[in-house]
Amino acid sequence: MENFKRKYFDYNSQMLYAIKGLEFMLFRRGGVTLLKRKNEFIEKYYKYLQKEFDENKNLVLPKLDFIITTRCTLRCKDCSSMIPKYSHHIELSFEDFKRDIDVILNNVIELSLINFSGGEPLLNKDLSKMIDYAASKQKVGMIKIITNGTLIPNDELICAVKKHNDKVFFFISNYSVNPDLKPKLKTQEIIELLSKNNIKYQMIKDFTWFEEKEMQKQKLNCKDDDSSGVDKYIKQMYENCILSACLGVFNHRLHTCPKASHGEQLGIFYDKDAIDLTDLKDDDSGFKEKFIEFYKKDFYEPCRYCIRSNKEVMPAKQL
Ligand SMILES: C[S@@+](CC[C@H](N)C(=O)[O-])C[C@H]1O[C@@H](n2cnc3c(N)ncnc32)[C@H](O)[C@@H]1O
Ligand code: SF4
Ligand code: SF4
Repeated sequence: MENFKRKYFDYNSQMLYAIKGLEFMLFRRGGVTLLKRKNEFIEKYYKYLQKEFDENKNLVLPKLDFIITTRCTLRCKDCSSMIPKYSHHIELSFEDFKRDIDVILNNVIELSLINFSGGEPLLNKDLSKMIDYAASKQKVGMIKIITNGTLIPNDELICAVKKHNDKVFFFISNYSVNPDLKPKLKTQEIIELLSKNNIKYQMIKDFTWFEEKEMQKQKLNCKDDDSSGVDKYIKQMYENCILSACLGVFNHRLHTCPKASHGEQLGIFYDKDAIDLTDLKDDDSGFKEKFIEFYKKDFYEPCRYCIRSNKEVMPAKQL
């Protein structure tokens, strides 16, 4: 339980601080998280998480990614989701999404931020419906649509986002630092369209990418007599991994990160640590127990197949 508490209360209070700060910045709503009083606010969120968990038996999820398609308009060499490796694509329908989000929302009291990701989420024809459904849920704080900036949002999407423009925003991955992508990027047009419709967006100036190494087909296995040494190494790698905070749902399974989601889907490994949402009914209290078991792990099965690198690379370099 010690590990669960450290991860759930410590990491998540910091994540809530960042999310609530963004919420205030974009929508002028929620707790104002002043930089000067950072520790005070983190403590406040820590107490909130603790009170809900210990006294009221409630879970708060700060952030969850929903991978809604594996299709994409780009083929990035270092894509952290390994999208160029797909030969057969997976596209989630609104019904698929509804089933998963219902299970999650019936088992948490707050989901502060949903990320719609992919592949390129704008390629999913049900995105508007998904947004409308999720944004109408009181437990959902904000919704972020992560796009590569190559597609102009259609009227239906603009309409759905506009309807909920107090909680939905776009994150445009800033690939303009890559000169090769210039002909494909429609960033300026997208920004003009969003601004005209009073839709918020975020685009980070200094966008950093890290090298992505191939996941290994053979797991970093522990010989029976050497398990602790190998496990210590993997635990350390997981602790330093920026993707470890990117919990995501893909194809009805909750995984620790996009590499876990896509690695399993691509048949590199079976993620025995994932939570299968189809095993749960939407009012199933078993989620909480499964989530605690999931969350308290030192690292996850996919980490055994993973190699991390901290080498900076050109964002979205194409294959
Ligand atoms: C997998 S993409 C999916 C959304 C969309 N296709 C896009 O590229 O924005 C989600 C986010 O992961 C980021 N990303 C992908 N590979 C990365 C890498 N190697 N290093 C840092 N960020 C990466 C992308 O820039 C994007 O913001
Ligand atoms: S990072 Fe590149 S390849 Fe990967 S999903 Fe985004 S745009 Fe597509
Ligand atoms: S599998 Fe583990 S080490 Fe690899 S990216 Fe995911 S969390 Fe990080």
